[in-house]
Order: sequence, then structure tokens, then C-alpha cells
Amino acid sequence: MSLPAELCQRLRAARHLCVLTGAGISAESGVPTFRDHQTGFWSRYRPEDLATVDGFRRDPKLVSDWYAERRRLCAAVEPNPGHRALVELERRLPRFTLITQNIDGLHQRAGSRAPIELHGSLLRLRRLSDDRVVTAWDETESPPRCPETGVLLRPDVVWFGEPLPAAPMAAATAAAGDCDLFFCIGTSALVYPAAGLPLTASAAGATVVELNPEPTPITHLAAFTLRGKAGELLPALLTATWP
Ligand code: OAD
Repeated sequence: MSLPAELCQRLRAARHLCVLTGAGISAESGVPTFRDHQTGFWSRYRPEDLATVDGFRRDPKLVSDWYAERRRLCAAVEPNPGHRALVELERRLPRFTLITQNIDGLHQRAGSRAPIELHGSLLRLRRLSDDRVVTAWDETESPPRCPETGVLLRPDVVWFGEPLPAAPMAAATAAAGDCDLFFCIGTSALVYPAAGLPLTASAAGATVVELNPEPTPITHLAAFTLRGKAGELLPALLTATWP
């Protein structure tokens, strides 16, 4: 695979690499994306039923079962070479920030130290009544209830119409505005505010790089566009940069 020599030079010299990942980075682990034709979640299910608080209030069992199934799926798959290449980049560069829209926990399992989770995590639930996070519950109960109070527990994820958690979003915005290199990997760049981060980076003078088999609305910002799978491109980029 031939990769631009100038990109390798910039990566070797990077002061701060900031990376935004989306569902595409986990696709090669076997986790479906949201918008890919036929296989994407949103081509098979209605987001308003499964990913809104109104949908949850209407049918908490349906929504809880869907998230429990996704939790089981994610527990049964492994991080792929794309996740692992990001761990290696974190090790090699003076400063590295990983921002993810994914809730599957695969970056952490690969060994990334502190990914910023913009959309929450499948591995936590929180009380519908007061948002208190719980990490232990009866997985056989659907919908699950708080062991202490009996109130309904919802996934600790961001649903449509909800704001992103403030501290992760602030940390992500600060990193995007401070980096000199910004990688946008495996995201359709359609969902804001996450999709605004490459714009923040570009406006602050960073070199934006897109890794995705398909073009996206942020492609025009990218100085380098690598078309292909993250699990193949990222290891190849590492080898080309540090032969
Ligand atoms: P999408 O499903 O919208 O986009 C996945 C992207 O990954 C597409 O651009 C694909 O071309 C690309 N892709 C597929 N396979 C790939 C591979 N092997 N390597 C690299 N790229 C690949 O997923 P997201 O952009 O993550 O939000 O979606 C953003 C948000 O929309 C999600 O976090 C979720 C969803 O609704 C919430 O649930 C709040």
C-alpha cells in the first residue's frame, strides 16, 4: 500500500495528534456501523424507537433488550488492528488525544489510555430519575432496575435530542483546537457536535486527515484522504512512518 511520504513526515514530527473515531473503526471487529447500506443499524431499525428518551419511556423493555444484545455482541468481539495501531501511535507521539463516538469499549480493551467518550458507554447504565450512574445490575432483568431504589435504569449513552456530556465535549473541543494533526477515522461526519471537531481543528490550523472507504461531508477539509479500511490503513501508516 502506498501512502503519501509527506503525511508520514508530518506524523513523525507531530506535536499533538488528535484522533476522532466513529463506528467504522470497529466494523472490522464485527460491530455493525449505523449508516452503512443494509448492515447499518439505522437501515434496519428506527432510531426514534431505540435511541430516544421517548422511545425508552414508551417501551423500556424493547430498548433495554436492544442495548443488552449490543453489550453481548461487543463482549464477544475483539479489538482489531486499527484499534491497536492507535495504541501504538499514543506510545510513539509526544501528545495524543483519542476522541470516540463509539460506546463499545473496544479502544479501552485494545489498551488506549484515556479515550474521550462523547456518546457514553454501553458498559454503564444510569437511573432514569436522577442520572446516577450504576455499573452493576441484574442483566437478566428487562428493563433493569436500580438495585437500591427499584427505579428504571437506562443506558448511559447519548440519545437523539440529548446534549453531549459537558466535560468530555469540552476536553474534545480543547484538544481539536490545540492539535497540529487531526485524524478523522471511520465516521460519516453527519452527527453534530462531534462532526464539528474536524472543523475546529482545521480552523485552528491543524492538518486534517480522513481515513474512510467513502467520502464524507468533511472530505473537503482533509489535506490527505486515505480510502480504505482503518484496520489496514493504520498499520500500513505506522510501518511507512517508522519503517
Ligand atoms: P456511521 O455508521 O454514520 O458511519 C460509519 C462510517 O464508517 C462510514 O462513513 C463508513 O464509510 C465508514 N467505514 C465503514 N467501514 C469502515 C472501515 N473498515 N474502516 C474505516 N471506515 C469505515 O457511524 P458514525 O459516524 O460513528 O450516535 O455515527 C455517528 C453517530 O451516529 C453514532 O455515534 C451514533 C449514531 O446515531 C449515537 O448513538 C448518539
